Amino acid sequence: MLEKLADKKLFRTKSYIAGSWCDADNHNIIEVINPSNKQVIGTIPNMGEAETKRAIDYAYGALENWKWTSVKDRADILYKWYDLILANRDDLATIIVLEQGKTITEAHKEIAYSASFVKWFAEEARRIYGKIIPSPIKNQKIMVTSEAVGVVGIITPWNFPSSMIIRKVSAAFAAGCTVVIKPSELTPYSALALGELASRAGFPDGVLNIVTGEAGAIAGELTSNKIVKKISFTGSTRVGKLLMSQAAGNIQRLSLELGGNAPFIIFDDADLDVALNCLIAGKFRNNGQSCVSPNRIYLQKTIYEKFIDKLTNEINKVKLGDCFDKDATIGPLINQASIDKITYLIKDAVSKGAKIFSGGSKAGEDGYFFQPTILVDANHQMEIAATEIFGPVMVIYPFETEDQVIKLANDTDYGLASYIFSKDYARIYRVSDALEYGMVGINEAIISNEIGPFGGIKQSGMGREGSYLGINEYLNIKYKCWNV
Ligand code: SIN
Repeated sequence: MLEKLADKKLFRTKSYIAGSWCDADNHNIIEVINPSNKQVIGTIPNMGEAETKRAIDYAYGALENWKWTSVKDRADILYKWYDLILANRDDLATIIVLEQGKTITEAHKEIAYSASFVKWFAEEARRIYGKIIPSPIKNQKIMVTSEAVGVVGIITPWNFPSSMIIRKVSAAFAAGCTVVIKPSELTPYSALALGELASRAGFPDGVLNIVTGEAGAIAGELTSNKIVKKISFTGSTRVGKLLMSQAAGNIQRLSLELGGNAPFIIFDDADLDVALNCLIAGKFRNNGQSCVSPNRIYLQKTIYEKFIDKLTNEINKVKLGDCFDKDATIGPLINQASIDKITYLIKDAVSKGAKIFSGGSKAGEDGYFFQPTILVDANHQMEIAATEIFGPVMVIYPFETEDQVIKLANDTDYGLASYIFSKDYARIYRVSDALEYGMVGINEAIISNEIGPFGGIKQSGMGREGSYLGINEYLNIKYKCWNV
């Protein structure tokens, strides 16, 4: 890792608590693997309950000052962090490539995406408005203000190791909260590099703490410690449910950005080239390892063969390969468990009538690579229809009518992203209203940015990230009734 970085100090291998870089109390470590070649990149401390408790205490110690700094001061530090992130973008992108396996082009996009949230929330810090409301009673004034929730536990995934942290943390800081972050143990170095830059930006000690290690003990402490007033988590629905039950003990506030099972509906009146380009861009973003990735592609029967031919042509151009190669389109999956899961889902689908049109198996022995795959003639009896695939597998389902496809699209416990392709505006209105999802891409597959409210309904979670709503997740409302 080190030889690839211009600024070697960005490769931090210890946890960051109260402004110091620390080992686990028992000196236990975890190895971090590069998914492109299965080599060990380095180690991190495997911390547990005691270290997490300590980090929470420090975050609490820093809260009182941070919460009452002026919004201008908080915004200024966020702007400094933003500048430092952009100034170090090459190194930060390199770290993402090495620990996560996305291509260097995508890693650069992730850093730009991350930085956009820091800038956005630096701006939002200045817009934490209140209200004075006329009272029903003479001589009374009603005043409504917002204040920081307090210490926040932030638990993040491996698929976007930088932006998923920053999207939460920037909003929390802008609101005046202090945080204890538990990054994925598969991709901790992006988090630690961001910690290094945060310390250079001037965040006071204790405002940002990063505890590395396995999830169970750290999340257990974050959800059971009374000081922690909120948990913000991005990850699977299974873990989201577990955290929700743990958080119930102290009625902690929750933001949960969980799994998806995005329908991608292509009507026969769509511009098929637009639909095709969007499908390739959406599906292969991060090699399909995204909760908003098109998971079920519904293709109207009248264009079924024509579209699949076009798609096969395009998929043959996808280049699997060395993530530092600027021409590579996709890299490896995160680990062997991912390959096993996808192999199982494809086998189950084929046993129930799906056909493999291209790809279908792992590629090479060196890393966790999987061939870009097209499965056609899928149906809802297959497990793949109910499961978030998290890989480069396009699964195509035929449909005939608008009513039928709406029912199929909504036939899932998830409700995060959905996509419609059509040129008929009346149909777009009808279908986008009928879809039970938090987000709808219309003739568009790349819907993630700092300004739109990102989040889902049903078992895809609760709360919104980014946008004018994101900061509210870290603010409590206070109502003062004033006799004047
Ligand atoms: C995710 O996959 O968890 C988030 C993806 C995004 O922000 O677009």
